[in-house]
Amino acid sequence: MMSSSTRDPRSILCVGHVCVDLINLCSHYPEEDAKVGTTTANNRCLEQRWQRGGNAANNSTVLGLLGAKAAFLGTIADSHEKRFLLEDFAKYGVNTEQAVVCKGCECPSSCVILSRATASRTIIHSNKNLPELSVEDFAQVDLTPYQWIHFEGRNVANVAQMIKLVREHNKGLPRGEFITTSVEIEKAKPELEALIPLADVVFVSKDFAAFKGYSNKAETLERVKALAHPGAVVVCPWGEEGASACQGSGVMVHSPAFPPASVVDTLGAGDTFNAATIFALAHGSALEDSIRFGCRVAGAKVGVIGWEPMR
Ligand code: ADP
Ligand code: FRU
Repeated sequence: MMSSSTRDPRSILCVGHVCVDLINLCSHYPEEDAKVGTTTANNRCLEQRWQRGGNAANNSTVLGLLGAKAAFLGTIADSHEKRFLLEDFAKYGVNTEQAVVCKGCECPSSCVILSRATASRTIIHSNKNLPELSVEDFAQVDLTPYQWIHFEGRNVANVAQMIKLVREHNKGLPRGEFITTSVEIEKAKPELEALIPLADVVFVSKDFAAFKGYSNKAETLERVKALAHPGAVVVCPWGEEGASACQGSGVMVHSPAFPPASVVDTLGAGDTFNAATIFALAHGSALEDSIRFGCRVAGAKVGVIGWEPMR
């Protein structure tokens, strides 16, 4: 899986979604029909801010923070938010030269409520008319600089074709120069299952596991491994329980979570874990060490607001 080529081993492309997150940090999760202000008695809005979001966008942020050569590939609306998004990618050293700008589209956004009391993050997402990345867009990209391409699990029919294009690309290369592919199966959507057999590394979230009726990490790994291609790595993060992983017929490995002194912002914890685990695997670390690194970085993330304090 790990490349021993002369390419820069840190070059990682994240394919997926970017949006604006409008984040409301509240002391408690609001009641329906409540009016929450800065000084209200029972619940207070402690902060409201914009943050660049989207799973692949967040993955690339974390990879940039870790010192990887990170790039983002996805569609981006040609709306007034574009400048904010592109400047923010640049702040984290993420290359966006390949991003596909879509004219006449509105920027997708999420309204996020972070509860200080419970550390929950509630996300309401909307995408009015921004199209998904097409296979044709992907086929335009020169894949040679990349050691690793990570796909957000969405846009299934197209992403399946994109992974096949990477496989085709690999066929012409010596094994040591293969591009590793990973895919994130996160959302509670049945069609995502079709992506499981295609990638070298599969990240499965506890939300997808719950949707499938799997009750713990071990069961999730067993079930997903049965669908993955032989020898694939399957990784399963599980909130405060840390993460587990396995490769082919190898033993299951585990890492505890690394909780910070105080959990203040769990938005993007899974994106952080996945990116940090990819970073470690891409640098040749063993699977167990890689998920431990993923848990350490995700633990640090949930202890701070946003990503800015991690710069
Ligand atoms: P998601 O953000 O997709 O819901 P998870 O909740 O599974 O993702 O969290 C991903 C990883 O983030 C976990 O494996 C763990 O390492 C870390 N993490 C999440 N919540 C906490 C927490 N409260 N304390 C410490 N680490 C956490
Ligand atoms: C977090 C996140 C947010 C975004 C939402 C999109 O994982 O990427 O940044 O609003 O999920 O599904």
